[in-house]
Order: sequence, then C-alpha cells, then structure tokens
Amino acid sequence: MQNPPETPSASTAKQLPELFEILQPHLKALDSFLLEQVSQFEPEIREHAEYSIDTGGKRIRPSLIFFSGWQADGQVDENLVRLAAVVETVHLATLVHDDIMDEADIRRNRATVARKYNNATAVLLGDALFSHAVYLATLFPTNEVCRNVAESTRKVCTGEILQTMQRGDPDLDMATYLRVIDLKTAELFRVACFLGARLGGYSDAYVRASGAFGRHLGIAYQIYDDMTDLFGSQEKIGKTLGTDIATGKPTMPLILMRDRLPAEEARALRDTLSGKREADIPYWLEKLRQMGIFEEVRQAIFQEIEKARDAVAPYQNQTAANYLHTISQLLWNQVAAL
Ligand code: IPE
Ligand code: IPE
Ligand code: MG
Ligand code: MG
Repeated sequence: MQNPPETPSASTAKQLPELFEILQPHLKALDSFLLEQVSQFEPEIREHAEYSIDTGGKRIRPSLIFFSGWQADGQVDENLVRLAAVVETVHLATLVHDDIMDEADIRRNRATVARKYNNATAVLLGDALFSHAVYLATLFPTNEVCRNVAESTRKVCTGEILQTMQRGDPDLDMATYLRVIDLKTAELFRVACFLGARLGGYSDAYVRASGAFGRHLGIAYQIYDDMTDLFGSQEKIGKTLGTDIATGKPTMPLILMRDRLPAEEARALRDTLSGKREADIPYWLEKLRQMGIFEEVRQAIFQEIEKARDAVAPYQNQTAANYLHTISQLLWNQVAAL
C-alpha cells in the first residue's frame, strides 16, 4: 500500500476537528429549517415527509455549501441555510428513488422509504420532495438558484436513468462509467459549491473554481462509494451494500479487472455481471484484492481529489477556498484507511 502524499499546508489552514466545530451552528440551523418544512406538507403525508427528511445523513453537500460561501465572521447566513436545504432535499429525493431501483432495505441505519411504506408511495414522495426543493429555490430574489438547481437535478436524473438502462451490461466501458457518476453524483456536489460561492458574494472566477472543486470531489466520492459497496461493512456505513455487483452495475474496480483478465476468465466475470452466476461474487471480490485493483482505484480517487484541490489552489489566501481544501482531507483520510 502506497502512502498518500501529505497535504500542503496553507498559512490559514485549520485542522479537520476545528472545522467540524465551527460548522456545527450552521448544520443545526439547517436541521431546524428542514424539520420546519414538514409542516408545509399536507397533513395526510406529514408523517411520510418527516420520515424522509431525516437528519441522520453526513450532510456532505450542505457542508460544502457552508464552506464554499464562508464569510470572515463565520456567522450563520440564512441564504446559505436555505440553499443547503434545497440541495439536501434534492439529494434526499434522489436517495428515495435510488433505493427503489437498487432494491435496498437500509438507508441511514433504518428502513428505506420504499421498505417502510411501499414503492408507489416512495416514487410519489420523492417527487413531492423534489417539488418542495424547487419551491424553496424560488424564494431567492433572483431565479439563479432555481435555474441551476433545476438543471442539476435533471442531470442527476439523467445519470440515474443511464445507469438503469445500462444495468446488466457486462461490457460497460470506463468512459461511460465516469460519465454516469459525473451526472448522478458530481453534478450536485458541483452546484452546491458553485451556488454556495455565488451566494457568498465571491468573484465569478472563484465561483467557477469552487464549482470545479465540487465536481472533482463528487467524482472521487462516488468512486469511493462504489469501492465501499464491494468491500465496506453494512453496519459501519448504515446502508445496504453489495447491490452494485448483484444488480449488474459494473463499477471502476470491476471494469479494470474485466479488461485485464485473460479472455476465458473475463467471460466468466461478464456472466456474473449480467446476472447469470451470482454465486461467483465472493470469488471476484477475492480476485480484485489479489490483482491489486484496489490500490489502483485508490490512486484514481487521490488523483481526482488532487484535481479538486488544484481548482481552488489559486485562492488559498481566501478562507472559503482554504476550508474546501481542508474538507477534501476527510475523503482522502477515508480512502487512505480502506
Ligand atoms: C449517498 O450520498 C449517495 C452517493 C452519492 C454515494 P451520501 O453518502 O452523501 O449519503 P448521506 O446523505 O450521508 O446519507
Ligand atoms: C448514487 O449511487 C445515487 C444517487 C446519485 C442518488 P449509489 O446507488 O451508489 O448510492 P448509494 O450507494 O445507494 O447511496
Ligand atoms: Mg443505491
Ligand atoms: Mg453506492
């Protein structure tokens, strides 16, 4: 296992624990804001809305919003809180729908909305969450937030649609895999950082740089998530794992392995990926380890995090950019510990 290089330290750098601490009031304000939204849903579906708007997630996208728009005084800004609520609600809606398609039982350590109620309710509740996010986005003085969030949400859906269409295709190539994760995951990370910086009042150049940071971090995050789907512990992660290979979703490790195996073995892997030989899954997981594919995927994630950092590197004298850099260390550490 190769050691990851040290993070270059900037003069204003804060350590991660300190950063978590200064974030707390912002996340608390977000939780209150989100819980207040429940009362806006019709009485008959308030219980369902409350179950879906749960406050148990990692709040990655809201954290990116607060840091990309960070102000010198560190005060909670109600516009950033509302933006965080918009993006988190879109994210929640995509999770509600994603769990139907992935036939997942557990999300955030409890039953998925589809399992708690049923698929039909989950489809419509996801739609209601999307709609409420758009409604909240219209409360800003200009339509910029609404326009950007609506466009990004369409891209996220496109990513999920493409993935559904490609399910069970054992020949999916790397470029297509990367395109899908760019759409389904990186786009929401990008828009979070882009709009966070915009509402923070920063220059156009920094707003774009912040968006690029978010995009690369999002790509890195989805590749990491796909690794944990193959090898993570369900108890630690708190959601159903193993659904990617079981539902015929070839992810980076599997694509790399397939393209490196001798023809006959590659054929056997293709059979598993198209759902014919599920019993072979443990064999392929072991093979991934033996072939050193993990190390390669880890390096791909580190490279993507480096690209994210490079995007904001020219702005390291700005606290907001500096905090984004530090927060990327969190993912780096997770990946280094895999
Ligand atoms: C899950 O996102 C979906 C992916 C993009 C992998 P998160 O890992 O941010 O989920 P929560 O919000 O913490 O539950
Ligand atoms: C991310 O893909 C899904 C969304 C963008 C909603 P996954 O299917 O890998 O997400 P998890 O692993 O279920 O959280
Ligand atoms: Mg899923
Ligand atoms: Mg996953």
